[in-house]
Amino acid sequence: MKPQNTLPTPSEEAITHSNQLSERIKKSLRRHGALTFAQYMEKALYTPGLGYYANGLPKIGQAGDFVTAPEVSSIFSRCLARQAIQALQALPEANILEFGAGQGTMAKDILLELNEQQQPLEHYYIVELSADLRARQQATLQAHLPSALFEKVTWLDQLPAKPICAVVVANEVLDAMPFERIRIEPDQALQGYVQFDDHKNQFVWDYQKITTKPLQQFANQLIEHIGKVSDLGYETELNLNITPWLKSINDFLTQGVVLLVDYGYSRQEYYQPARVMGTLRCHFQHRAHSNPFFYPGLQDITAHVDFTAVAEAAYDAGLKVAGFTTQAHFLMGTGLLEMSGDSHLPITEQLKIAQQIKTLTLPNEMGETFKVIALSKQLDLKLMGFKMRDLRHQL
Ligand SMILES: C[S@@+](CC[C@H](N)C(=O)[O-])C[C@H]1O[C@@H](n2cnc3c(N)ncnc32)[C@H](O)[C@@H]1O
Repeated sequence: MKPQNTLPTPSEEAITHSNQLSERIKKSLRRHGALTFAQYMEKALYTPGLGYYANGLPKIGQAGDFVTAPEVSSIFSRCLARQAIQALQALPEANILEFGAGQGTMAKDILLELNEQQQPLEHYYIVELSADLRARQQATLQAHLPSALFEKVTWLDQLPAKPICAVVVANEVLDAMPFERIRIEPDQALQGYVQFDDHKNQFVWDYQKITTKPLQQFANQLIEHIGKVSDLGYETELNLNITPWLKSINDFLTQGVVLLVDYGYSRQEYYQPARVMGTLRCHFQHRAHSNPFFYPGLQDITAHVDFTAVAEAAYDAGLKVAGFTTQAHFLMGTGLLEMSGDSHLPITEQLKIAQQIKTLTLPNEMGETFKVIALSKQLDLKLMGFKMRDLRHQL
């Protein structure tokens, strides 16, 4: 099922694996007639044992497909830990809950920083959809944490049934949630479905008239925002999972702060008339492209985050928006510079740290496209991460 393109060819074993998943998706297609893009993406990323995030293949880091901020440098997680400490000190119980913990690197560095700062913690909960990633997280944490710290970590299969006070953290989780694809043409609005083309032997787009109210409402607003569209059309994405996800967070949180880090924009910037192909991106062996049907199960599929949608969904769920800023400003506000300047380190180590800081903060690297949004519940605090620059007015 190899589409025409210039991406590297996966190993035979990986192709066999992808074919198994494709057969599973085709079966589902035969049952349902068509899959919305979100349904296809859910299967491509999360089918147990076969989906991209659920199989045993390497993903994050040099041997995988992409690198995330916690893998660039421990400084990222230590800054997040300092923000968490400020909030934990204002809460009656000190818990952290992390969604989608990847290889466990961020959890490890947050826990080590808390320990170094002598911040007590009751529990570090991890909510992870993938059994494979959960096993990797356990291995990372067991290898790097003293046993008293490791014992604080609990993996949850579902969100806490009993409400808790907590600082909730999630890095690059929103961008991995299944989204819908919309196409605006000069005289109609369409939704992207997925079909299988037997002749080409691959999955293909199938655009059909929008039939659901939320998508129609979104399309109407979008048309108003972007104005006249050329014959080439305008394609973009909509994440319908943000609202239920934030509602579920609001339900288990009695009091606390939610810190979400991801790449994305305010709505104004996201749905620019010139962004005619949207932000759908796939990552395969450190190459970014826009074909979500390339070897299902072997590549990541993502879209940028509409942070205005996050803020609206938070408000509807009962959470307040407590801050919004770029990753660079958040890290500077939480102590990046003091963490970077240990002149006792060998020069090679200092240069390595300087390079990591550049990757985390430069505007053309992760510094500006990545944003941090803070949501709060029953907690009025001037959060340190947003003191240098608060961009809430842009939402
Ligand atoms: C791009 S990876 C980021 C991993 C890690 N946070 C990091 O920064 O390296 C996306 C992660 O989000 C997880 N994820 C997506 N939706 C989720 C949800 N609703 N609940 C928990 N985890 C989720 C995936 O399983 C995956 O571990």
